[in-house]
Amino acid sequence: MRDIDFGSPEHKVLFCRDFIDSHDPFKPEHIRWPDLDAPTLARLKALPVWTEAVNTEYETALKVGAFGAAEKDPLMSEAIILQGREEERHFRILELMTAHYGIPVVRRGEPKAPEPEWGFLGVGYAECFDSFFAFGLFALARRSGFFPRALIDLFEPILQEEARHILFFANWAKYRQQRTPLWARPAHSFGNGLAASLQVVNRLKLAFNAGGDDGVDDNFMMDAKRAFGDVSARSFVELCLAENERRMAPYDPRLARPRLAPAAARWVMRLLPADRQTAAA
Ligand SMILES: [Fe+2]
Ligand SMILES: [Fe+2]
Repeated sequence: MRDIDFGSPEHKVLFCRDFIDSHDPFKPEHIRWPDLDAPTLARLKALPVWTEAVNTEYETALKVGAFGAAEKDPLMSEAIILQGREEERHFRILELMTAHYGIPVVRRGEPKAPEPEWGFLGVGYAECFDSFFAFGLFALARRSGFFPRALIDLFEPILQEEARHILFFANWAKYRQQRTPLWARPAHSFGNGLAASLQVVNRLKLAFNAGGDDGVDDNFMMDAKRAFGDVSARSFVELCLAENERRMAPYDPRLARPRLAPAAARWVMRLLPADRQTAAA
C-alpha cells in the first residue's frame, strides 16, 4: 500500500471516509443492562467517575457538533457532525446506565459555547490524553474482574469509538497543519501547542487532586486506577502503550496516528524506576 501525502485531498477523503464508514449505528435504547449482584453494584456506585463522565460527554457533544456545523468542507463537516452524534450517544448511554443502576449524577449547567475551532481543539487534545489512559484502565478492569464481563462488553464499543475519535483528530490536525502556508505555520503551531498544553495542565491538576482529601468527583483517572489493584506506574504506562497500539491497529496504516500521549508516556517511562519483578499487571 503506497503512502499518502498528508494534507492532500486524498488524505482528507481517506480520514473522513474511514471515520464515516466505521460508524456503528447501534441505539443506546436497545442496550439490555445486566443484573448486578449487590457487591458489584456497590463497587460501580463507589467509582467517583460518573458525574464527570456524564457532564464531559454532554459538553463534548455540544463542542464537536458546533464545530462540525461551522466547518465549510462538506465531507469534513459530515465526519465531525457524526463524531458529535457519537459523543451525544456516549452521554445518553451513561445517562441511561446511571438511571438504571440508581447512580447519583450531579449535572452541571449549560456550558458557555466556546469559539467552535478552539472548542474542537480542546476536545481533541483532551481526548488524546484521556483515551490513552482510559485504554489502560479498561484493560485493567477487564483483567481484574472488577466488573462483570457483560458490563465490560457493553462499554467496549465506546472505548473503540474514542480510539476512532483521536485517530480522526490526529489526521484532521495533520491535514490542517500541512495546508497552512509556511509563513503562517509558527502561529498555527503556537495555537495548537497552547490548546495541547492547557489540556496537559488540566490532566496534571486532576492527577494531583487525586492525592487530596477533597472528595471531588473529577479525579477519576487516578482513583479508578487505585480501584483496580496494585499495579506499578511503569506497568500501567506500558499497558496504556500496548492497548493504544492494539486499538489503532485495525485502521488504515496510511493514516497518521496520535503521537502526543504515547510520546509523553515514553518520556515519563524513562523517569520511572524499573519494576523489581516484571509484569505486575
Ligand atoms: Fe465520548
Ligand atoms: Fe470522543
